[in-house]
Amino acid sequence: MANPFELRKFVAPEYIFGIGARELAGRYARNLGGQKALVVSDPGVVAAGWTTEVIASLTEAGISHALYTGVSPNPKAHEVMAGADLFAAEGCNILIAVGGGSPIDCAKGIGIVSSNRLHILDFEGVDKVQVPMPPLICIPTTGGTSADVSQFAIITNPEEKIKFAIISKSVVPDLALIDPLTLTTMDPFLAACTGLDALTHGVEAFVSNASSPMTDLHALEAIRLISANLVASIRDPEDLELRTKVMQGSLQAGLAFSNAILGAAHAMAHSLGGERDAPHGECNAILLDHVIEFNLPASPERFERVAEAMGLDLRGLDSRARKKVLLEKVREIKRAVGVDKVLKDVGISSGDLPVLSKKALNDPCLITNPRKASQRDLEVIYEESL
Ligand SMILES: [Fe+2]
Repeated sequence: MANPFELRKFVAPEYIFGIGARELAGRYARNLGGQKALVVSDPGVVAAGWTTEVIASLTEAGISHALYTGVSPNPKAHEVMAGADLFAAEGCNILIAVGGGSPIDCAKGIGIVSSNRLHILDFEGVDKVQVPMPPLICIPTTGGTSADVSQFAIITNPEEKIKFAIISKSVVPDLALIDPLTLTTMDPFLAACTGLDALTHGVEAFVSNASSPMTDLHALEAIRLISANLVASIRDPEDLELRTKVMQGSLQAGLAFSNAILGAAHAMAHSLGGERDAPHGECNAILLDHVIEFNLPASPERFERVAEAMGLDLRGLDSRARKKVLLEKVREIKRAVGVDKVLKDVGISSGDLPVLSKKALNDPCLITNPRKASQRDLEVIYEESL
């Protein structure tokens, strides 16, 4: 457990949470000095109608725009560079991201490339951004990645088959407009993957060796909200109260993990996602229970609080039984939302594990994992997830 007297900082953007928040994009873009916006989105979000609404809000506020939708799931380095070229060619001075983690991370990449005039690959790692990016407003449309409040951007380098992390206060957006209504157009699989990603954020942030009382508060509430409402929100997609609770859970998980960082599940999921281009939330879901099992001996009392936040009653149970009910609960949520795959289902075989483990060992998320993990440890966790 973290020493409560250690120095900790907490970075978060301004955010507005609630139904109708998306309609404030134009007003706030103008407040931030926006004249021409590059709107970064993807074809699915455009088809759902959210991007058009945000553009209408910009137009109403007198802000012109260019639209960039060349973003694929797991945004690629060349997509960031193409977006930065468009930002310059169109003479834009503000970025508006509308979508899930992919358009948001791509917009962050476009921002730092534009202000620093470097290649996106030059920013890999912690605190590599020298010049702040142009203003960025994010309108998230999934309840999971929390890229709209985090100091992370995850970009894929397809040549090396690597997903790399850019961690910097400079990629924290200026404003997040978090509108739970946007969750109503997610299909059940996307809702499940992003919700499980948020659950993983909450758990990893809570047991992280960089956690603090400020992040614990958000992490535990995120675990509670997602565990209690994710399954029901997918079964009853029109219920706005459930969607709002999931969106709040995602936000709080984001505030927690952006500051407490993550752990082995994310390090291994990044490695897996770089290799197979599989959805990030699905990669986390495959690994989460196995990583919990590995980490549990390092911090059993923290995992008891995770279990309690998931609504489990641990009274009268010995440590073996406590572990069993926690793992069963995580697996039950995975089954109930229909994301219950193993590594073989995403095309991984035992021959791939040494390379996956080697890449995961170099991921910065592993530094805050509560139990030190060697390459061999990671390989064993992957094996158990096959
Ligand atoms: Fe994540």
